[in-house]
Amino acid sequence: MKRFSVIGNPIEHSLSPKLHNYWLDKNKIDGNYDKKLLTEEKVGEFFKSNQNISGINVTVPFKKTVLNYCTELSKLALNSQSVNTITLFDEKIIGDNTDIYGFEQSLKDLNFDGTNKTAFILGAGGVVSSVVIALNNLGVKNIFISNRTKNKAEALAKDYNLVVLDWGKIVDFNIVINCTSIGLKPNDNLGLDFSNIKNKIFYDIIYKPKTKFLIDAEGSGNQIIDGKMMFLYQAQKSFEIWHGIKPEINEEVTDLLND
Ligand code: ATR
Repeated sequence: MKRFSVIGNPIEHSLSPKLHNYWLDKNKIDGNYDKKLLTEEKVGEFFKSNQNISGINVTVPFKKTVLNYCTELSKLALNSQSVNTITLFDEKIIGDNTDIYGFEQSLKDLNFDGTNKTAFILGAGGVVSSVVIALNNLGVKNIFISNRTKNKAEALAKDYNLVVLDWGKIVDFNIVINCTSIGLKPNDNLGLDFSNIKNKIFYDIIYKPKTKFLIDAEGSGNQIIDGKMMFLYQAQKSFEIWHGIKPEINEEVTDLLND
């Protein structure tokens, strides 16, 4: 039986095991997928003691940490300096990035055309480089970024040609993307005032349905997108990398995330 795992901290909320085990079963593949809570210091040990594992998904906050343990990187992982999918065989540890595909495909589904559009990114964590590359692929050239800790936004701005805004300031945009972790907990509040904005797109990469960010945006007359399809598409691509099969995303699969 082949083994797979998702590593992160926190990891309890991760729906990756449920989704991958469902697809393994549907596709009659002899495998098992579990989750592992790690600390930064334990990541190296995990790689050493799990050499019989075939694939690993990586979530917050280790998408950059694992770069140190990969023996090879795909072009996307190299460009984004972010790894969410690892394949292990013949002593090779190959890092890949399927978040870019996930984010891009979720917007393509909605016929989003980025030409002459302005995007506003909130946050500067591990997933932002993937979001930026996907936006560029969709034709978005003007990208603003704002983060509570400004120097993290500045570092990304330098690498990816973004414009930095002070935290709390808002710019005129077509699409705003919440890439912070605010919204994961029930009473989380970003503390930014978007109440005068309407007819724009509000995207929250958190896959929980309707964060406060999205509820408020919808109430003001904006289009909202949650992180569900991005999550499903990144997982679908990981599955395809490991098993050579593109698993189906249908109602039964989307329902798995609602239970
Ligand atoms: P990492 O930064 O380790 O990659 P992440 O979960 O991917 O972790 O990113 C968390 C993001 O949420 C960061 O942009 C963080 O801002 P800081 O860089 O200032 O820490 C943001 N964030 C977390 N809590 C926040 C809060 N209370 N207010 C505003 N932003 C917050």
